[in-house]
Amino acid sequence: MRYVGDLEASLAAAERLFLLQGENSDSGESTAPADLEAAGAGRLARKLDVDTEHLHPVLSECRVFKAPEEVELLKYVSRISSQAHVAVMQACRPGVMEYQLESTFLHHCYFHGGCRQPSYTSICATGKNSAVLHYGHAGAPNDAEIRDGDMVLCDMGGEYHGYAADITCSFPANGKFTPTQAAIYNGVLDAHQSVIKAMRPGVAWPEMHRLAETKILSALVGAGFLRGDVGEMMAAQLGGVFMPHGLGHLLGIDTHDVGGYRKGDPAVPPRPEGPGISKLRTARIMAPGMMMTVEPGCYFCEYLLRKAFDDPALAGFLVRDKLEAHLQFGGVRIEDNVLITAHGAESFTDVPRTVEEVEEVMAGGAWPPPPRA
Ligand code: GLY
Ligand code: MN
Ligand code: MN
Repeated sequence: MRYVGDLEASLAAAERLFLLQGENSDSGESTAPADLEAAGAGRLARKLDVDTEHLHPVLSECRVFKAPEEVELLKYVSRISSQAHVAVMQACRPGVMEYQLESTFLHHCYFHGGCRQPSYTSICATGKNSAVLHYGHAGAPNDAEIRDGDMVLCDMGGEYHGYAADITCSFPANGKFTPTQAAIYNGVLDAHQSVIKAMRPGVAWPEMHRLAETKILSALVGAGFLRGDVGEMMAAQLGGVFMPHGLGHLLGIDTHDVGGYRKGDPAVPPRPEGPGISKLRTARIMAPGMMMTVEPGCYFCEYLLRKAFDDPALAGFLVRDKLEAHLQFGGVRIEDNVLITAHGAESFTDVPRTVEEVEEVMAGGAWPPPPRA
């Protein structure tokens, strides 16, 4: 580390200076290069060969593949955030405010884990609010009362030494799933578990997105919300009505980490087209060291459903009466933080996931559960 005042002296022998300039492929925001004139090093800037082309793509690519020290930080922040989610599930009951769940999470991460900040604005949504993907923003600040009979969706992560966790748990407000809630939840859980089992080096991320859609559509057929052949539904791109976001994204220093796409590089696949899948923040081929979120979801979004009812290519698959009776349901998302290893994938998230596990923990059971005698 050097003081700005020492810049000229410390770079006296340099010939070329690499400065960071480029576009973040996820946010579209640009990094402006350091202003050497403003730093009092104008003479140096004029003397040196300043290169603003190469550093940004090289650093972005470095950030895609995590070093062992980064993996340790990601493991830690995911563990603390997992424990905080368990505390939230145990604090939840009808009558509690959404922001009280947020507050429980933030306190746990800071008090027990030293995570001073969350890695993004917390999403704590009851009922219909949980179909709003980035609920919790300033215009909808987690300020509703949690109602008996609702599903609750909590998407929250701590940040530690600049590294992010990004975890979602969905659970019934009163601690007991109804049969319909369990059917939808289990469809999303099937998608989640199937993807993690299939993730390994060489797998293309859009294929995992399609796998998740297939599992969710199958569950909706089983629960009586859809009718017909799931292969035909996939061909008609029905999946994007129920999961209008990407399956998951790179995770690291940014929650939606850099390096997802790279213009002009044939080794990095471009953004796929189509409802839902076009929202993928990367289409890369999985490789060891990549840290991904796996976050399938199933939402009853009134706007998208009404559009689908009017779409002749989709309407025939929809059991309209039953869907209209569940427009207040909201949505379910299940999100883990997963490292691609040499031969497969390892989740760093450790929270109750099955219906039985969720109900047991919400009834006060310990997590992880004590070993059976
Ligand atoms: N919490 C934002 C996301 O899941 O991508
Ligand atoms: Mn999330
Ligand atoms: Mn995420």
